[in-house]
Amino acid sequence: MLNQPEMLEKATKEIDRVVGNNTTLLQESHIPKLHYLIACVREALRLHPVAPFNVPHVSTSDCTVAGYFIPKGSNVLLSRLGLGRNPTVWDQPLRFNPDRHLHEKRCDLSETDLRFISFTTGRRGCIGGELGTNMTVMLLGRLLQGFKWTIPEGMESIDLSTEESSMFKAKPLYAHAGPRLNPSLYFCIGEKQDLFVAAINNPYNAVEWALSEMLKQPEMLEKATKEIDRVVGNKTTLLQESHMHPSTSLPNRIPKRSSPPSPGDALQCPTSLYC
Ligand code: HEM
Repeated sequence: MLNQPEMLEKATKEIDRVVGNNTTLLQESHIPKLHYLIACVREALRLHPVAPFNVPHVSTSDCTVAGYFIPKGSNVLLSRLGLGRNPTVWDQPLRFNPDRHLHEKRCDLSETDLRFISFTTGRRGCIGGELGTNMTVMLLGRLLQGFKWTIPEGMESIDLSTEESSMFKAKPLYAHAGPRLNPSLYFCIGEKQDLFVAAINNPYNAVEWALSEMLKQPEMLEKATKEIDRVVGNKTTLLQESHMHPSTSLPNRIPKRSSPPSPGDALQCPTSLYC
C-alpha cells in the first residue's frame, strides 16, 4: 500500500468515515463496516501467504475434487501460491489490487471456496478465524488510523522481494510514520495496555522508569554509559543487538522446543526475546 499510496488514502478515509472523528480509536465493533480495509488484508493473504504450502493432511475417504479423483489415504498438500496466484481464477494475479474483493462486501477474512488460503475450511480448518480476523484488521486499521505512512526520504519505493527460502520479506520494512490523531489518544493507548500495544508499552515503561531512577542517581547513569562506551568501543558506532550478549545474536537465542506446548505450560509473552 505504501507503493500505491492511493490505497493507503482510501483505507484511511474509510476508517475516518466509519469511526467518525479523530478522538476515538478504531474498535472491534467497527470491523464489519471496514470493507476496503478487510479487502486489503484479504489481498495480502492471497498474494503473500505466510508459507508456500498449507499444513499436510491425509484424506480419510475417496473423493473427487475439481474432476481429480483423490483416493483414501492420499497425502494432500494445498499450494497456497498455486491457489492465490492462479491466473485462471485471478485477473493479473501478481498485482496487489484489493478492489477485486470489494464486491463480496466481506466482514471477515475466511475464504471457504479455497480460491486462496486464509483459514481453510472443514474439520481441520483454523479454529481462530474470528480472533485472527479481529487481530489482523484491528492492527492494520489502528496503524493507518494513528499514523500517516510514507516512504522514507531518499527511497523510491518499498522493496517487495521475498527471502530465497521463505515467503517473508527479504528486507525489513522501513517507513515514515507521522501522527494524525488528537495527541491525547496516543496516551490513552498506553494506559489501556490492550493486546496491540502491550508489546510496545512494556519496554517503553521499563526504559522510562530506569532512566528516571538513574537521573536521580547520576553515578549509575555514568556507570552504564561507561560500560556502553567500553563494549561498543568508540563513538562512531551505535550500540547493536550483538553488544548485549557478545557471542549470540537474536535468532540463536530463540529456544528450540523439543515437544509441542502442553496445556500446563506457563504462558509467556511471545515477544519477550525482542525486548
Ligand atoms: C490471521 C490469523 C490466522 C490465520 C491466517 C490462520 C490460518 C490457519 C491455517 C491456514 C490453518 C491450517 C488449516 C488446515 O490445515 O486446513 C490454521 C490452523 C489452526 N489455527 Fe489458525 N490462523 C490464524 C489465527 C489463529 C488464531 C488466533 C488461533 C487461536 C486462537 C489459531 C488456531 C489454529 C489452530 C489450533 C489450528 C489447527 C487446527 C487443526 O489442525 O485442527 N489460528 N490456521
